[in-house]
Amino acid sequence: RGHLIDTDRLSKEEMEELFGRAEYWRTHRQHWHRAYPGHFAANLFFEPSTRTRISFEVAEKKLGMEVLHLDGETSSVVKGESFYDTCRTLSSIGVDVAVVRHRGTGLLAEMAEKETGVTLINAGEGNGGHPTQALLDLFTLRRHFGTLAGLTVVIAGDLLHSRVARSNLWALSAFGARVILSGPDSMRDPSMEEFAPYLPFDEAIRQADAVMMLRVQLERHERELFTSAEDYLNRHGLTSDRLAIMPPHAIIMHPAPVNRGVEIESGLVEHPRSKIFEQMENGVWVRMAILERALQGRNN
Ligand code: CP
Repeated sequence: RGHLIDTDRLSKEEMEELFGRAEYWRTHRQHWHRAYPGHFAANLFFEPSTRTRISFEVAEKKLGMEVLHLDGETSSVVKGESFYDTCRTLSSIGVDVAVVRHRGTGLLAEMAEKETGVTLINAGEGNGGHPTQALLDLFTLRRHFGTLAGLTVVIAGDLLHSRVARSNLWALSAFGARVILSGPDSMRDPSMEEFAPYLPFDEAIRQADAVMMLRVQLERHERELFTSAEDYLNRHGLTSDRLAIMPPHAIIMHPAPVNRGVEIESGLVEHPRSKIFEQMENGVWVRMAILERALQGRNN
């Protein structure tokens, strides 16, 4: 029914189809604003967001959809309404697609099973998954390298709290890319290391076609996991010295928001080899494709 729960539920062919449609929307400006009039999207954000929320809104408007917003603090969830009842309510009122960011890993999969009548898109779920981020990351890699098969992608940093890392690991693996994990010992995730090797950072980045830095997610840390920004940058961050030992063709990625001077030296964010702002732009095209898939799923 067009739900997007995580990348491990998408086949390689389905992801290819999404990339094809994202490229279509990127290059067919003349068809914007006319494609899906009269279809309603509700953006439900129970955790903070800038990129995902605004790029979904731009994508919805470029598709000609009607756009609604519901914030965690001002919804009846505050009065104790369950997420199931929230979804049933949205469906009854006429919402087609709900774009949801929230804390509860597994909740969207549960709601998709229950068939609430609204098509669900995961816009970041606790530390579980962030499939639209992973898909825009793969779209960016594919546009740059022409292929995903055989690429070596280093995912480095706060793996333990990263939903982005997990969704990227599933999606990159489906395309035959090699993922290498790296980061501080205190932020390693043994469950991910069943699927990809862990290497010391300097060893990992020497082999990389792309280095995907992860934000240190202080808001999810239950205890102190690092001593200072300076120490983190020196030991685990991407610096100019480390850029110099990466292969000359290798690119820098980061899902953002960026902790400048923590996981990445500030000046590298705008470096010619950085794709960080291109990732954000590509998010609009990929989210247009994901919304289109959701709407078409309702008609099948
Ligand atoms: N990359 C990302 O999800 O950013 P936001 O939290 O700002 O949406």
